[in-house]
Amino acid sequence: MSKIKILSIFGTRPEAIKMAPLVLELKKSKWFSSRVAVTGQHREMLDQVLDQFQITPDYDLDIMRQGQTLFDTTIRVLQGLEDVLGRERPQMVLVHGDTTTTFAAALAAFYYRIPVGHVEAGLRSFSRYFPFPEEINRCLTGVLADVHFAPTKDARENLLREGIDPQHIFVTGNTAIDALFMTVRPDYEFMEPALKELDFAQQRVIVVETHRRENWGAPMAAICEGIRSIVRKHQDIIVVFPVHPNPAVKSVVYRHLQGETRVLLLSPLAYSDFANLMSRAYLILSDSGGVQEEAPSLGKPVLVLRDVTERPEAVAAGTVAVIGTTKEAVVSALDRLLLEQDSYEAMARARNPYGDGQASRRIAAGLEYYFKIHPKRPEEFVGN
Ligand code: UD1
Ligand code: UDP
Repeated sequence: MSKIKILSIFGTRPEAIKMAPLVLELKKSKWFSSRVAVTGQHREMLDQVLDQFQITPDYDLDIMRQGQTLFDTTIRVLQGLEDVLGRERPQMVLVHGDTTTTFAAALAAFYYRIPVGHVEAGLRSFSRYFPFPEEINRCLTGVLADVHFAPTKDARENLLREGIDPQHIFVTGNTAIDALFMTVRPDYEFMEPALKELDFAQQRVIVVETHRRENWGAPMAAICEGIRSIVRKHQDIIVVFPVHPNPAVKSVVYRHLQGETRVLLLSPLAYSDFANLMSRAYLILSDSGGVQEEAPSLGKPVLVLRDVTERPEAVAAGTVAVIGTTKEAVVSALDRLLLEQDSYEAMARARNPYGDGQASRRIAAGLEYYFKIHPKRPEEFVGN
């Protein structure tokens, strides 16, 4: 029997991090022939991940432009994939998550009547514009998908409520945790010179990562003001802030925090540096989706700079608190975790609601079941 051709399509940093373990798993498979197309929605941040996991894409649409709009990205992904999909004609396209690459790639596959497998399916904030445009990208991709790899039971419940056939849903855990377990090491040596200088025993390190569209402008300025106020108040902390290269983010962050003592503004870090930095940090302040999944496994408190989250499992696990985006919220939440040991200890406990490092293996097994290679449904992920 000839191998079944699976084409994985991704384009941004978080998709690449979470698809990398699956691409490596499919490469080992005796049933599947794995092909990779990247859209290049991100450039440097995508390449950092491809380098770390030693993945060489078969296609690279290289679509990124400085300050690209949602329209630019959607059009360029669709146009670029018309040719790739027409040439490759895979038996399945895999997409991940909720970006514009995800939605446009799922739509392109649908136009060719190629089945779509959606990895990290079923997350919902139930709020149309938060996160924007990711909530709707994820819903639309769910409509286009034929197979849904839900990371958790909650995600499966969301899909069932939308009428998705339970036969087509597999609860797998999140591949983010596969990538994390492959990367975090107690003896890891940082590549970024500024991180080599950090003294984790003497200083409490606060990691900041923020980029969401709904936080551009006034909310991001308020967050930066809050950080500045806290750094001036607590002499034993240092803030490490790898700044997203989007001009809408970078300009505000540099305007408010450049030159501030004990605030390190850095370029985006390689995933191996960032994951190991989180594992040694005191706490994390972020609006990132992926960070909310990684932090519980690392036992690091995350203060989420949003009003709603589509990742309630981390809140239930106690590691994540959704604090909003005002200066007052940032100051009071940080103050509490810096001053009250009990509050800190209550959040800083390692739990794994999002995975056990086996999600890629389960997704590959789900694909074998879907393609009738194995008659038995694979075992599902049960969180703890
Ligand atoms: C995108 C995703 C978002 C995801 C985020 C992860 C959409 C609509 N948004 O948002 O869901 O959470 O990625 O980071 O799909 N840039 C660079 N180099 C890079 C990457 C970005 O210079 O390697 C700059 C460019 O000026 C680019 C801009 O950032 O135009 C915005 O990139 P884009 O992918 O459109 O949006 P993000 O805010 O990164
Ligand atoms: N990350 C990284 N380098 C950084 C900041 C974040 O590798 O400088 C990783 C982080 O560990 C997580 C992912 O990027 O796995 C999250 O991506 P991002 O915040 O860009 O997107 P989101 O998850 O919000 O969609």
